Amino acid sequence: MSTSASSIKLRHLLGIEGLSPETISALLDVSETYIEQNRQIDKKQSLLRGRTIINLFFENSTRTRTSFELAGKRLGGDVINMQTSASSVKKGETLLDTAMTLNAMHPDLLVVRHPDSGAVQLLSQKVNCAVINGGDGSHEHPTQALLDALTIRRRRGKLQGLLVAICGDILHSRVARSNIHLLNTMGARVRVIGPPTLMPAEIDRLGVEVFTDMRKGLTGVDIVMMLRLQTERMHGSYVPSIPEYFRFFGLDNEKLSFAKPDALIMHPGPMNRGVEIDSEVADDIGRSVIHEQVEMGVAVRMACLEVLMSQRRNEPSGSVAEGGGE
Ligand code: NCD
Repeated sequence: MSTSASSIKLRHLLGIEGLSPETISALLDVSETYIEQNRQIDKKQSLLRGRTIINLFFENSTRTRTSFELAGKRLGGDVINMQTSASSVKKGETLLDTAMTLNAMHPDLLVVRHPDSGAVQLLSQKVNCAVINGGDGSHEHPTQALLDALTIRRRRGKLQGLLVAICGDILHSRVARSNIHLLNTMGARVRVIGPPTLMPAEIDRLGVEVFTDMRKGLTGVDIVMMLRLQTERMHGSYVPSIPEYFRFFGLDNEKLSFAKPDALIMHPGPMNRGVEIDSEVADDIGRSVIHEQVEMGVAVRMACLEVLMSQRRNEPSGSVAEGGGE
């Protein structure tokens, strides 16, 4: 592989917005190098020996937390998982006090997920170590967009020129925002499809085509990305009823027939079968790449850990070079 991780200048990974196409391609290239290793019996390397990674999750997670843990361990780092339900956060400690407490233990990297948009960036300004955004509110989820891009690039050989439909609860989705930034940066065309109540006010500024009709929006697309209804972020009523939502916006074989015959079906998980996606479509082994996305997630997170840690080689914590603020 031609790309070396240390040539990618990143201090933190807080979002996709603002990353250059070269940086995104290079991150995907480094990720590629880990896919085969993860399929071997012996998956362990010593690249991050002596490095401490803390997963600090203020929201539930299955895929993201587990894959960051596996990624850190497979690279030989020490990984600690902080369950905020079992921490002093429950005793009233603020986000920044928790972060400063952990900072005092000299971690090399924090992976942070938080329900408030912007919280992870704020935290990154207060600590000495590198920070990866594991999802902040409805703002960004950069490693999800990278793993989605890696999955697409491997299946289609490119991102440029592809027509991608992102469907469902766009309003509350950090996955949608990060994917829109990444796909636009890489020259793909993005459509968003969903009810008007689940479209963000700023959608016209995001460089996407907006559809409120699934059949029209799916016509001729290469990729169909489904999103979960984020009921935990909804205050009030955004959809009339679940059966009604499924009838208009749930992906089933009939609606899918409007997409290209070989269109890929994607979902970041967790899936709600019968709400935004029909089981027949989700489990279609010919077209659904949902499990492949999960596999790519480990490789992408290994690449992100390697890249951020390579900037800190031989530097004591607290004296990280400035710049690379992408
Ligand atoms: C997503 C998230 O948490 O933003 N899940 C994930 O990370 N794979 C999407 C979701 O929760 O619906």
